[in-house]
Amino acid sequence: MEILRTIDEVRRTCNALKRGDRTLGLVPTMGALHVGHLSLVRAAKASCDAVAATIFVNPTQFGPNEDFAAYPRTFEQDCAMLEREGVDVLFAPAREEMYPAGAETFVDIPMVGGRLDGASRPGHFRGVATVVAKLFNIFQPTCAFFGQKDAAQVAVLRTMVRDLNFDVEMVVCPTVREVDGLAMSSRNRYLSAEEREQALVLERALRRVERVVAEGERDSDRLRGELRRELEDAAGVRLDYAEIVDARSLEPVSDVGDGVLVAVAAWVGKTRLIDNVVIGAEDAR
Ligand code: PAJ
Repeated sequence: MEILRTIDEVRRTCNALKRGDRTLGLVPTMGALHVGHLSLVRAAKASCDAVAATIFVNPTQFGPNEDFAAYPRTFEQDCAMLEREGVDVLFAPAREEMYPAGAETFVDIPMVGGRLDGASRPGHFRGVATVVAKLFNIFQPTCAFFGQKDAAQVAVLRTMVRDLNFDVEMVVCPTVREVDGLAMSSRNRYLSAEEREQALVLERALRRVERVVAEGERDSDRLRGELRRELEDAAGVRLDYAEIVDARSLEPVSDVGDGVLVAVAAWVGKTRLIDNVVIGAEDAR
């Protein structure tokens, strides 16, 4: 696996990798890798001729009081994991390589990017869209792989790809969970043993909604109400949002008939966790 630090090196290497119509899959990450990340790499390996991953803790997607400084950085371990998966190229740039002095251009997606996490974390999706647009321009991948775990991020990036005519196929991979149901996340390592237990309510509450819908409930307001109550009543958990929305626009829906995204975010101690399920339609995500 080649570890590259500059955009020039990436362009040169990717041009060589893509020669003769070979396809390139891109897996953008912020590192602190776990099996959820590796599932994207495996999907990329299965469908593309060459695979590139990136590790960059992107400062522009963190708010001033968020965990940018504390975000886990486990570079050596990450490299070993990617190497084992057969990744061809890892791009791990310094901050100045991605944002040189004077950089002032951003990609803003005000409507979709202002919903769910975009409402709770102002500016977050502006940072995400900007860095992903830059990575798409740098790598010009055939396909890019993202996790369903970050469903709002997927909706925002799909909007960007459509609106800015990126010639990249978005591939969305299922959420990978621990055996007890907790969605894997780099931030899970912040949790104490007690918080780790308390965090299980997110998945439990989502599964309950799935069950109630399977039993015939269609009214989103009632479902939303139950979902919120369960999370609000849970010990050690502070609800951020619990929404039932259209998976593409992230706008609230009144009826679950056509396939919907049920998404939650909650604080467990000082750690903000998110999770979601898609109900009702194969192509809703
Ligand atoms: P990061 O949180 O490192 O996640 C990188 C990718 O892994 C994202 O597409 C995310 O949805 C996916 N992922 C994380 N946990 C997952 C899980 N349990 N199952 C499946 N996929 C999972 O998301 C980001 O980084 C950044 O916002 C980024 C897109 C890299 C831009 O900076």
